[in-house]
Amino acid sequence: MFSQKVGCMKTAFNYKVRFPGEKDIQIPEDEYFYVKLKGKENKIWLHDYARIYTIAGLYEGVVSNKLDCQSPQVVANLLLKEIRLSGFDLSIARVIDFGAGCGLVGEILHREGVQSIVGIDTIPEAATAAQRDRPGVYKNYHIADICNLHPTLAADLKHSQFNTLICVSAMALGHVSPDAFAHAFNLITNGGWIAFNILQKAYKIPDDWGLYNFFSKIIKYGNLEVRIEHIYRHRLLMNGNPIENVAVIGKKWKNIPDKILSTCQ
Ligand SMILES: C[S@@+](CC[C@H](N)C(=O)[O-])C[C@H]1O[C@@H](n2cnc3c(N)ncnc32)[C@H](O)[C@@H]1O
Repeated sequence: MFSQKVGCMKTAFNYKVRFPGEKDIQIPEDEYFYVKLKGKENKIWLHDYARIYTIAGLYEGVVSNKLDCQSPQVVANLLLKEIRLSGFDLSIARVIDFGAGCGLVGEILHREGVQSIVGIDTIPEAATAAQRDRPGVYKNYHIADICNLHPTLAADLKHSQFNTLICVSAMALGHVSPDAFAHAFNLITNGGWIAFNILQKAYKIPDDWGLYNFFSKIIKYGNLEVRIEHIYRHRLLMNGNPIENVAVIGKKWKNIPDKILSTCQ
């Protein structure tokens, strides 16, 4: 049992969580845990976010505390530092938190003075958890597939003139694809801030998800200017091994055209 260390609600976390044996967990895709609810032990896959978010404090308890995930703080703090160094006024930041989940990233930005944060995620349980555990952090929270937006929402997002995109722990493992990231990126005004983290090997070596190809191209063609690449330990795997990520902070200079995307899938 443990208490939740992240979050303005400071929910006491009173669930009993048990990890499987070390040899069962070699890669992130394999990870699961057991949690005791109403006297019964339940097996939950670590990437079954819909189920995890329905239990208040479970994501924070397992991912932030037990697996020591540092990414919301690392990426948000690097972004905030770079924004402050540039002299940009944080109070006029209009942020998309893409793959916002239960709101850990939004909470950090909000606490530091960002007033306009819009969350986007694909699962309704994420929005419900963010509203339940971090009320007031998001100006709006949309449940949507960014590649297939309803025209009204697409127009609304386009007119919002967002100047900052942050996407934390939502790439690779079949989550946010290059296509989805490009759609979010293209909602940001030219000169706006871009912040994300990604598995180090998916950023540096050609991978099954097309992320290496995608990021290499948008950097080479000047869509994204990288200001910071910071290698750090994202979190522990359940067997105790570290997962290395790169946090990237940069500026958007132009939209990503379809012709780049068509060569990255
Ligand atoms: C590991 S959680 C991270 C949540 C949050 N960013 C954080 O750092 O606490 C990944 C989130 O990305 C969301 N996600 C995955 N694919 C997505 C997509 N194509 N568009 C938007 N959200 C997506 C998942 O539903 C999940 O809530």
